[in-house]
Amino acid sequence: MPALEADGVFKIFGRRPERGVRALREGRTREELRSRGLTPAVIDATFSVDPGEIFVVMGLSGSGKSTLIRTVNRLLDPTAGTVVIDGTDISSLDAVGLRRVRREKISMVFQHFALLPHRTVGENAAYGLQVQGMNSSDRRARAEQALDMVGLKGWGASMPSELSGGMRQRVGLARALAAGTDIMLMDEAFSALDPLIRREMQDQLIDLQQRLDKTILFITHDLNEAMRLGDRIAMMRDGRIEQIGTAEQILNNPVNNYVAEFVQDVDRTRVLTAANVMEQPVAVLGSTSGPQAAHKLMREHQLAWLLVVNRDRTVHGLVWSHDVAAAVREGTDVLPLHRAELPYTSPDTTLSDLFTQAASSPAPLVVRDEDQRLVGVIPDVTLLAAMGNGQSNGNGQTLENVPVGIPAGVDHGTEVR
Ligand SMILES: Nc1ncnc2c1ncn2[C@@H]1O[C@H](COP(=O)(O)OP(=O)(O)O)[C@@H](O)[C@H]1O
Ligand SMILES: [Mg+2]
Repeated sequence: MPALEADGVFKIFGRRPERGVRALREGRTREELRSRGLTPAVIDATFSVDPGEIFVVMGLSGSGKSTLIRTVNRLLDPTAGTVVIDGTDISSLDAVGLRRVRREKISMVFQHFALLPHRTVGENAAYGLQVQGMNSSDRRARAEQALDMVGLKGWGASMPSELSGGMRQRVGLARALAAGTDIMLMDEAFSALDPLIRREMQDQLIDLQQRLDKTILFITHDLNEAMRLGDRIAMMRDGRIEQIGTAEQILNNPVNNYVAEFVQDVDRTRVLTAANVMEQPVAVLGSTSGPQAAHKLMREHQLAWLLVVNRDRTVHGLVWSHDVAAAVREGTDVLPLHRAELPYTSPDTTLSDLFTQAASSPAPLVVRDEDQRLVGVIPDVTLLAAMGNGQSNGNGQTLENVPVGIPAGVDHGTEVR
């Protein structure tokens, strides 16, 4: 069951807004409605968010993002359509039911931290727990725990004015965490922060999401932020959702020119990951093989290096062709294996992180899953980095036209045992 579902949601500001819904359904444009004094802020929004997903709504200022998120927790009543939270249609709830959903299911983090200036950081983090009827020592404990989670351990007794902007936003986040709801709505929560702090907060959010398994509806006007955070992204324009998809899907298959132009300048090195650019090795060598087998395989495939893998596909090491040739010449049975110095990475590491990580290694970058098993290789990260800088590798290929996609199932290549 989805954590959150919006179905055909409209929000139109102005007098007799229902007429606007009808007019839009009959094909009238947004501009025609505006000329009649109606503002269609959200038009026919349909999407669902899975439990544990970070779902980002991305759009320029005025595209209807805040209005949409406010209809989700019914700070605004939708003009038409339904919103279902954790199985409950909140459009039909009375005030009491609504308060309960807000208290138990969803919490919200705003751009302008909304801290109470005369309360301590701890009291601010605990704000909301009192209305839940929690006693003061439990409240304090819960608030401290939440402050700890956002990196503000020991700041509970301070006043908000003693904190930097980034720290204040962390208090806002701690408040939402202290509330203990499964769903968090975040409206431009990081937009007021300077870029460095902002990235830190994004990392922290991803980390918290993974640890606490929250469902997050995150709103931003920043495409890079959307691509970095979103498991899926809804691209919004003029009140309508134009496309919903993963960053890769939106980059690869924009549904229309608007989305295509929007994403054309995105920094792909921050969006694309090792999984998107890795290759399957032409061949791998079983770890029980000797120099002779390696030599044969490398000659057959014209390889300068060969990965050696164990039966369970964990990586045993790498051999270089000149070492193998020497071993064969000398008639030894021992594979000239290199192990410790191999550069490893995970499939979800972004290219920009890869570039710094594997700057000068002559060996290929080995991509492993969380069980340390081989999933792919990136033979030449330096080349990739150069392409990322817009330079060409000589075939007129730049990172711009490297196909983005989930790699087809791992091809285990030729194995010799
Ligand atoms: N309370 C309101 N009354 C009238 N118009 C509103 C109201 N709130 C928002 N709007 C209009 O709805 C549109 C979408 O606004 P908003 O949801 O705030 O966009 P975003 O958050 O994407 O910047 C804008 O044209 C805005 O002027
Ligand atoms: Mg807004």
